[in-house]
Amino acid sequence: MACLAGLWKGIETEPESEPETEPVIQCVRIHSLRSAGEVTELPFLKTEDASRSGSSWAVAAYPVIASAMRRMAVLVTDKYPPGLSARSESAMKVVAFNASPHKKGNTYHLLRAACDELEQEGIETEIVHIGGTRVNGCIACNRCFETRDKRCILDDDPVNEWMAKMFAADGILIGSPTYFADVSTETKALIDRAGYVSMANGGLLRRKAGAAVVAVRRAGAIHAYDTINHLFGISEMVTVGSTYWNIGVGLAPGDVDSDEEGIVTMENLGRNMAWLLKKLQE
Ligand SMILES: Cc1cc2nc3c(=O)[nH]c(=O)nc-3n(C[C@H](O)[C@H](O)[C@H](O)COP(=O)(O)O)c2cc1C
Repeated sequence: MACLAGLWKGIETEPESEPETEPVIQCVRIHSLRSAGEVTELPFLKTEDASRSGSSWAVAAYPVIASAMRRMAVLVTDKYPPGLSARSESAMKVVAFNASPHKKGNTYHLLRAACDELEQEGIETEIVHIGGTRVNGCIACNRCFETRDKRCILDDDPVNEWMAKMFAADGILIGSPTYFADVSTETKALIDRAGYVSMANGGLLRRKAGAAVVAVRRAGAIHAYDTINHLFGISEMVTVGSTYWNIGVGLAPGDVDSDEEGIVTMENLGRNMAWLLKKLQE
């Protein structure tokens, strides 16, 4: 079992019981890690979902650990498909904030497209839904400059939890819908409070990779995009670009999937962020 455990990198959970059979390392090509997370069939991870372009490799070993696929980007074994390295790139993590009240709206779809690419590159991602949460804005009390404990004094909302995820991540995606040509309220609260706490503590966001992702029906996305990028700039972060500004066009949840250029932009963004993170890790 120890031997098996050693094959798994980036996964905290070990099989609860000894499998009855010898381990079988099986490589499967999965077309979407999103769909991998939905696979509940045992014994081996399988998916037929080719709904999104692109694909990725993953490796399933014991059935009992197939469920761990939900939380991982790439399982690195001693038998890995072409293109995957033996090094655990899944040690790197990108946190993506969906600041739309729609849990699976356009902002989510755009983030998902970027995260799918990151995962294919072996980088763990987490999409955190923050839209629709009651949050306080910064109250300019400056207590974070006194306490310097990496936290905001306001503790009756989850912003401290979110900023802790930012400080722990290698890369950060902040996704917002366009509201009156700017970001959503939750996005702004996160920017102001995390940005201030980062500064108060000597630059907790310094040299992390960052990218803004914006959903828009028609106009104002560039302004929202700029608002998010202002956080990255003043925080000494490295911003990641794509083949267009990171914007997707759509009105109703899911409409952005019809914005082919928007989706390709997100996919390229994900690949570029993965490239950058690997360079930064070298
Ligand atoms: C309060 C509010 C303000 C909006 N303001 C704009 C706007 O300024 N420009 C625009 O093109 N769309 C605007 N929209 C539309 C959303 O940006 C658009 O539908 C977006 O795709 C929603 O993303 P979501 O599905 O992630 O929530 C607004 C929507 C709401 C609810």
